[in-house]
Amino acid sequence: MGPPRPLVRVATTLAFCAALTVPGPGPLSHAQSTASAASAGAEGDRPWTDRSLSPSDRADLLLNAMTLDEKVRMLHGTIGSPVPTTGYIAPIRRLGVPGVTMTDGPAGVRNGQKATELPAPVAQAASFDTEVAREYGRTVGSEARARGQSQVFGPGTNIQRVPVNGRNFEYFSEDPYLSGSMAGADTVGIQSQGVIATVKHFAANNQETDRMTVSAEIGERALHEIYGTPFDLAVRQGEPGSVMCSYNRVNTVYACSNAHTLRTMLRSRFGFEGYVVSDYPSTHATSDLAAGLNVELPLSFHVNPLSVRAALHRGDITKEDVDRRVREVLTVLFRFGLFERDGTATSPIDEAAGNDAAQRVAEQSAVLLKNDDDALPLGDATSRIAVIGAAAADSAQGGGSSKVDPLSEDRALDAIKERAGGSAHVTYHDGCDTKAAAEAARSADVALVFAHDKEEEGSDRSGLSLPGNQDELISKVAAANSRTAVVLQTGGPVLMPWLPQVASVLETWYPGARGGAATARLLWGDVNPSGKLPQTFPAAEDEVPARTRAQYPGVDGTAHYSEGIDVGYRWYDKTDTKPLFPFGHGLSYSDFTYSGLRLEKNSGGPDDPVKLSFTVTNNGKRAGSEAAQVYVSKPDTEADSPPRELGGFRKVSLGSGETERVQVSVAPRQLSFWDTETDGFRVRKGEYGVAVGPSSRSLPLGASYQVRE
Ligand code: BGC
Repeated sequence: MGPPRPLVRVATTLAFCAALTVPGPGPLSHAQSTASAASAGAEGDRPWTDRSLSPSDRADLLLNAMTLDEKVRMLHGTIGSPVPTTGYIAPIRRLGVPGVTMTDGPAGVRNGQKATELPAPVAQAASFDTEVAREYGRTVGSEARARGQSQVFGPGTNIQRVPVNGRNFEYFSEDPYLSGSMAGADTVGIQSQGVIATVKHFAANNQETDRMTVSAEIGERALHEIYGTPFDLAVRQGEPGSVMCSYNRVNTVYACSNAHTLRTMLRSRFGFEGYVVSDYPSTHATSDLAAGLNVELPLSFHVNPLSVRAALHRGDITKEDVDRRVREVLTVLFRFGLFERDGTATSPIDEAAGNDAAQRVAEQSAVLLKNDDDALPLGDATSRIAVIGAAAADSAQGGGSSKVDPLSEDRALDAIKERAGGSAHVTYHDGCDTKAAAEAARSADVALVFAHDKEEEGSDRSGLSLPGNQDELISKVAAANSRTAVVLQTGGPVLMPWLPQVASVLETWYPGARGGAATARLLWGDVNPSGKLPQTFPAAEDEVPARTRAQYPGVDGTAHYSEGIDVGYRWYDKTDTKPLFPFGHGLSYSDFTYSGLRLEKNSGGPDDPVKLSFTVTNNGKRAGSEAAQVYVSKPDTEADSPPRELGGFRKVSLGSGETERVQVSVAPRQLSFWDTETDGFRVRKGEYGVAVGPSSRSLPLGASYQVRE
């Protein structure tokens, strides 16, 4: 099969009834790649093959040997690779420069071949556990390597600004610190396999409506604090070899032509040393090379020998620009050892290992939103079970370039039958006929309704309601059986008009190749739910931070980010708006209590971290994990900062009755704000609040901390 194309919208397989009605790891960091280089000497007249030299010295030597046309070839993606890819930089055989094979994407390898379908990337953030993100990345990286890919287009790191964004399932969170921490860990995981990660889509690519043209009009403060920070943290923590610039414009200038975002922010302020690839046809001029673009990918036609010569002649770009961009690409290729190995070599994918990883992520990221009277977990004696909804028989996946062709996929229905045991009576109803489904529920001990939405690249959701007849279905089933549990498979928030009627709601995102097994284990309590919401679930369609047409989807080609830094829970808290479920919310079958908050010091300078510790105790009967969250309230809250912002988190696993003293260090960056006067992050002096607890709206512990000059 040929490679998948970037722009086609892929329909998900699930119908809504209303419609019917590796090999060894590669180098991790710049430092490591230099240190680990063997002292192999140069081959003949190719001094850049000397592995004792640093990647950048080798790049300089190679650059000296290249003609202008050869340099330009490094800056343009093509097709025709020896293995199926999504993008490719052709080799330069005269100089021994390897081809660079590239593939989507954030949820698993998508190069036209099968791979492990991991849960939707948002699940990583819902785990509130960077080790989960690292494992996720390792899985993607090792399978990419097995498929002969040198580079993966992921992780997707954009902020979930509007809950209807069609690509929210591919992104992490509405919170920049959580997003950046996950992106950094995912990147480390991918690159631990010797595969280049591509943090995308920079910058402010927060909606699919008019995504190729819309201008995100953002003030500098929000651009840095909210939209830049996830990329900044990903770059600092993960050292990605690559970043992808986005389709949209930022303050009128296209993201791939934007010297402010690409050079000033990404390179100078964040310290990015890799290369920038375009999001396919997202380049607009040869001079994008001067603005900071390195490689335009297929479907873009602004970088070729003729156009580059003409741009040099006109003075739109200089020879130094071309050299700089090529050097940046070559340095990464040397860093990842691509001159020393055949990046296109393939090997079998370890399918069992991939599926195990997918299941672990699904189990760690499911969020128990509601559980009245401990209706879940199901007891071993539950014998009559009505399973309802098409997603139980064919789990949902997001569409577009993150849609993976799975090596295998399980079904929740089968896993439920197996877990319930041979003596149980499990019925299945697809839910298209709501009356019949309710009848099936009436005679059961418990009704499990599977509901799903449809997020996909290329368009936004038309609203926050579950599509088709699903709200009616849940409502009718719940009316027939008070023990109704809803299992959601969604990429983000949905409205729940039926919430008061149902006993339990379990959000499983798009749960991946072993989502069925994970869901059954969660429902029976073989694994205790421990995910937390990385995005606020709004109570109503219009109770969201970007409520006007000017804000979203924008007017006359411009989306006005006039909510500034008040994105997600920052806005709900500032405006005292009650969401359906707040950021950070997630229940457990256990009962955790928090006590004994202690700050190591009660005051410090602007460059000091705030070190704190507190105790979490599992008072429940079951073992479980709890993602403890630390929020910071900055001084002058009323003037311009939101009431609280996530400053740290730590997930702990505790047996029944166990207690752990948890340490968290809040970095100065989490105390800072973007100062437009000095163009930098600054920590104000004054009194800071530090609050700790199980969600952004449940913070039992608090202390104050003083920042001195
Ligand atoms: C998407 C990218 C993707 C690329 C290649 C684009 O349309 O926005 O996320 O990596 O296609 O498939």
